[in-house]
Amino acid sequence: MLTEHHCHILPQIDDGSNSVEMSLEMIKMMRSQGVERIIATPHFYAHRERNDVKAYLAKRQAAYDKIVQADNSNSDILLGAEVAIEHGLHNVPDIDKLRLADTNYILLELPYAGFQHWYLDEITDIAYEYKLTPVIAHIHRYLDYYSKSEYEEVLKLDAIFQINNEALGNFKERRFVKKLIKEGYPYLFGSDAHNLTDRKPNWDLLRKKAKTDVIDGAERILSECKEEY
Ligand SMILES: [Fe+2]
Repeated sequence: MLTEHHCHILPQIDDGSNSVEMSLEMIKMMRSQGVERIIATPHFYAHRERNDVKAYLAKRQAAYDKIVQADNSNSDILLGAEVAIEHGLHNVPDIDKLRLADTNYILLELPYAGFQHWYLDEITDIAYEYKLTPVIAHIHRYLDYYSKSEYEEVLKLDAIFQINNEALGNFKERRFVKKLIKEGYPYLFGSDAHNLTDRKPNWDLLRKKAKTDVIDGAERILSECKEEY
């Protein structure tokens, strides 16, 4: 089942879709590109939310209700979050409620900055304390920030590595991603779609650039997850 693991399709909750209409168009586009299961993952920044996960969840639910009200067939859309790594994140109460649907996965976004060891400490603390498997968002996005050995540190995490579909269309990122897959790291795909223009759903690109067994390799990860969607 082709699954969207990372997208910003809920209306007016982050820098993704800015209206219900845009959300509906984005969802329609995904489905027409063959996506069979969608997990909406609005950004969660602990400092912006004042560490209040419950308030964020209420906002997320309200945004979700709007797209279901507009079109009831959207009630099959699942909920998650893209959680930015920040100092002390593992101490934020209810962080485990941000996991992807009913899985034990949590989508975590590394800072866009040079490598620091505390990123990994936060990730391992969250994984250990809540018994969650980290999914590292768009792992190929840090090629300009991390050295080879720093990347190796990140890849040593007991984690799943999420790949944005657009990486397959970029020479440097494609090379990195191909190596990651070849070396047997667990991976998942996502569009990280934010809108209908420069960051639109791009499952057509993935299906054009990646072989079926590579796409299926990502889907197999889900069946290994302890809990069912
Ligand atoms: Fe994202």
